[in-house]
Amino acid sequence: MNALQRSAFDGAGLAGRPVYELRGVAKSYARRSIHALDRVDLTLTEGSFSSVIGPSGCGKSTLLKIMAGVLPPTEGSVYLEGTPVTGTRRDIGMMFQQATLFPWRTTLENIVLPIEIRDGKKAARAMHDEARALLDLVGLKGFDSVRPNELSGGMAQRAAICRMLITKPAVLLLDEPFSALDELSRDFMNMELQRICMERNATAFLVTHSIPEAVILSDTVYVMSPRPGNFVEAINIDLPRPRTLDMMTDPKFGEYVRRIRARLDKGAFL
Ligand SMILES: Nc1ncnc2c1ncn2[C@@H]1O[C@H](COP(=O)(O)OP(=O)(O)OP(=O)(O)O)[C@@H](O)[C@H]1O
Ligand SMILES: [Mg+2]
Repeated sequence: MNALQRSAFDGAGLAGRPVYELRGVAKSYARRSIHALDRVDLTLTEGSFSSVIGPSGCGKSTLLKIMAGVLPPTEGSVYLEGTPVTGTRRDIGMMFQQATLFPWRTTLENIVLPIEIRDGKKAARAMHDEARALLDLVGLKGFDSVRPNELSGGMAQRAAICRMLITKPAVLLLDEPFSALDELSRDFMNMELQRICMERNATAFLVTHSIPEAVILSDTVYVMSPRPGNFVEAINIDLPRPRTLDMMTDPKFGEYVRRIRARLDKGAFL
């Protein structure tokens, strides 16, 4: 990719204040000599929702972990709100494929865990009302004293959303958070996610394998090449907000899906 094409991905033409900035982020895993990511440039603007889609093993989770500060890049820099990301930060919320709730803790105790780790037990207790309000927000009112084994998969993921939101992160990094859910729950959760992001003006970055999911949620969809991963196309999704599931039958929606699928089907990419 030349410099011109690369700069075209910066912010992907979206207006707004830049929040996240990645410059030349590359990653090699030395132990197995795997070149996972190749000099990725990315700008996310405030309140935007972006998705990345690409073949398995192309470096999506690696990219997200670098953005979250849990994995250092081999090259390049990551800035959030103008300061370098060098470790985990309270303004970054992250969510994984599995809810990973602790089975011996109640839903409420799981949700306030990030506060407990950061500020201690007393601070966590002070957040119980806030945690209950979040449970309400995701439709889990009254489930605060239940243990995870009494929650369905979708309910556990909703509790995990609350745990991510309790620290009021400005940025949400999501690694296939709903891929274990059935289609109906997943659609519902995606609309919930949109509502939460809009309410909080959060900046979101989602890794997904689902093209329709990427299109319905995103302002920009980034298509990634096979390893070493880099963006081969950034597609701005020009559909009004709030998005609704009905929009999936819009011809424009189908056109976006086809365009992304064609890009992924090429296999060799650029
Ligand atoms: N800790 C690690 N040590 C060595 N190699 C790793 C490590 N983590 C990931 N890799 C390798 O880096 C490459 C990218 O992995 P990554 O998990 O980022 O892919 P991905 O795009 O998220 O894939 P998937 O869609 O299957 O989740 C893979 O080849 C993987 O084997
Ligand atoms: Mg992954």
